[in-house]
Order: sequence, then C-alpha cells, then structure tokens
Amino acid sequence: MIRACIFDLDGVVVNTARYHFLAWNRLAKELGFFFSETDNELLKGVSRMRSLDILLETGGLDLPVDQKEILAARKNEWYLEFIRKMSPDEILPGVTHFLELLRAEGIPAAMGTASKNAGLILKQIGMEHVFDCLIDGYQVTHAKPDPEVFLKAASSMGMAPEQCVVFEDALAGIEAAHRGGMKCIGVGDPGVLKTADKVIPGFIEINLNILLF
Ligand code: BG6
Ligand code: MG
Repeated sequence: MIRACIFDLDGVVVNTARYHFLAWNRLAKELGFFFSETDNELLKGVSRMRSLDILLETGGLDLPVDQKEILAARKNEWYLEFIRKMSPDEILPGVTHFLELLRAEGIPAAMGTASKNAGLILKQIGMEHVFDCLIDGYQVTHAKPDPEVFLKAASSMGMAPEQCVVFEDALAGIEAAHRGGMKCIGVGDPGVLKTADKVIPGFIEINLNILLF
C-alpha cells in the first residue's frame, strides 16, 4: 500500500523545462550550432553536467573539463534570469490541490530532483515549506536513472521503497523509481512515458484514488 509520495520538480510541479531549453539553446547558438526543442527532450531529468555533454555531442564538440564548467555556469546564469522572475502562478494546475489532499490524509510528500536550483524555485513559487523533505542535486552523487535521489527521499520520510510512489515526467526518472523498488506515475504523454505504471496528463481532477495500484 502506498503511504508516501515523491515528486520530481521540473516538469511535474513547474514547467521549468522551457527555461532550461531557452538557456541551452542560447549556449548552443553561442557555440555555433542549433539545438532544437526535440534535442532538448534528451535532457529531461538529466543532471546539468550530463546535459551539457549531450548538448556538446549534438554540436559535435569535445571540450576539456574546465571549459565545460565555465559553459555550465554561464547556462545556469541565463537559466536563473528566468527563475528569479517566477511566481506562485507558475505552479502547474492541480498540484496545490493534490498536495492538500495528501496532507489532509496524513500522507507525506517529498521532493526528489536532480536540480541544484530547487531551493530557489520552491521559494519563488511559495512552496518552500510544503514538502516534508527536499532531496536535490546537492545531496546525490549518482544522477537519475540511479535511484539514489528517491531512496534518500523515502528514507528521510521513514518509508520503505515499496510504500512510495514517484511522480515523474522523464524516462530517466521512471527508471530511477523502478530501480529503487518504487511505483511510478508518469506525468505527461502516455506515448512517451510508456514505462510508467500509470500516466496522468497533469494533476487537474486527480484525487487519492491515483495511489491505488
Ligand atoms: C532536472 C531537469 O530536474 O534538473 C534537467 O529535468 C536539469 O533538465 C537538471 O538539467 C539539473 O538542473 P539544474 O537546475 O541543477 O541545472
Ligand atoms: Mg522532471
């Protein structure tokens, strides 16, 4: 039986994937190649440095580590320009209501994300006190599809993996949940998120029945 929920951030609670894309696209342009929205799909759920590697592969570039760190920092500065303008109206529809349903039933909710900007994003959207725990890119050494982020979230809620369900919009995140022994509900397109145990288009009209497997 499901007794706790773990939420990914980007693409589940907020649509920051758009801002990631705009910043990566700007970096690619500066480096002299085009990076499309389709290319950007491969970066979902993937850590910042791995995302940069994928972007550079797309442009046929191979750069030394110190230069890659400079590029990743530059991309993040552009990304932060969008994040600093975020407000609570960017919380995706139905998310707040679903979290209220969980709270009313005493079901804890954690956040498990690869992002190192999660603390700032949660503050911008007024959700810094909503989750029972936050495991972000600073607390994990192995990025998704490794299950570390979700296992840490489960353990900090005092739950066994099989008592948790993960809400994810990325294939790498679904694999991470499964490798951790957890159920996973995909948030997005069922044609893409084929490996999830269930898929919802978003949280509008979602109630606690979604936790029944
Ligand atoms: C994930 C996103 O949540 O966080 C990825 O889906 C992103 O696209 C990753 O690369 C790292 O985010 P950040 O904010 O630390 O650059
Ligand atoms: Mg995501």
